[in-house]
Amino acid sequence: MRLKGKVALITGGSTGIGKSIALRFAQEGARVAITGRDRGMLQETVEEIVAAGGEAICTDGDVQHKADVRRMVDDVLAKWGTIDVLVNNAGICKPAAFLDIEEEEWDRHMAINLKGTFLSGQAVAREMVRKGVKGSIINMSSVNGLAAEGDQAHYNATKGGVNLLTMSMAIELAPIGIRVNALCPGFIETRLTKPLIDNPAAIGPYLKTIPMGRVGLPDEIADSALFLASGDSRYMTGHCLVVDGGQLIKLS
Ligand SMILES: NC(=O)c1ccc[n+]([C@@H]2O[C@H](COP(=O)([O-])OP(=O)(O)OC[C@H]3O[C@@H](n4cnc5c(N)ncnc54)[C@H](O)[C@@H]3O)[C@@H](O)[C@H]2O)c1
Repeated sequence: MRLKGKVALITGGSTGIGKSIALRFAQEGARVAITGRDRGMLQETVEEIVAAGGEAICTDGDVQHKADVRRMVDDVLAKWGTIDVLVNNAGICKPAAFLDIEEEEWDRHMAINLKGTFLSGQAVAREMVRKGVKGSIINMSSVNGLAAEGDQAHYNATKGGVNLLTMSMAIELAPIGIRVNALCPGFIETRLTKPLIDNPAAIGPYLKTIPMGRVGLPDEIADSALFLASGDSRYMTGHCLVVDGGQLIKLS
């Protein structure tokens, strides 16, 4: 068990990649707190983790609001007294052509994907410093933070920001023993990507851009998150770990 005795907080932990990470961390012995906005879905995931023999709680709130983030962190501290691992996973992606992106959509992507990562990262890192926890923070980025995809200017910009935020946090927190890394998944099968996966005319050509010829699974991202959360990555910080079936290295 690679996370035995650790407390992990996972934002957006009731669906997709976040849910897989929560289940995986619990299997590895972590006490898992998941956050999100839908109490019913959070509760269902908690029950699934507990039924599998794990320990979990949930707390609802919106990562773009500082007061919500503070309350979510306080709920975890009230229950378990510490946080060893934070996964900043909550995020949105609503494709739109650059010429058509509305100011409100730009602001919403920035507020959830980038500011939400900052707010949770800062709140949890402050607690880690206060309690002397040598923790691990994982920011969910994307290959879109390293190369630009069409119709995603706002999303690309948030994930590029997440990568630089990760490096900035890493250099300031390394001297106090906190590691901060980003995870950059390629195309992973979740409700975020379902519209493209369900469109036979679009998914065929898209798969040709991936050398491994298939979409990734949330479990495959969870395994990489486990690596970054555990001592297996103890000499890594500020790294952007790409898990994409080779998509990013292919020119055509
Ligand atoms: N699916 C992919 O191909 C892919 C690829 C690269 C990166 N990612 C990233 O992985 C993360 C998870 O995405 P997913 O594919 O599992 O999709 P998802 O929609 O299942 O997960 C996103 C989660 O974030 C939560 N969330 C959204 N806005 C929130 C807010 N304001 N406050 C709190 N929670 C909020 C949602 O409720 C949901 O649980 C995102 O950051 C996404 O950008 C996904």
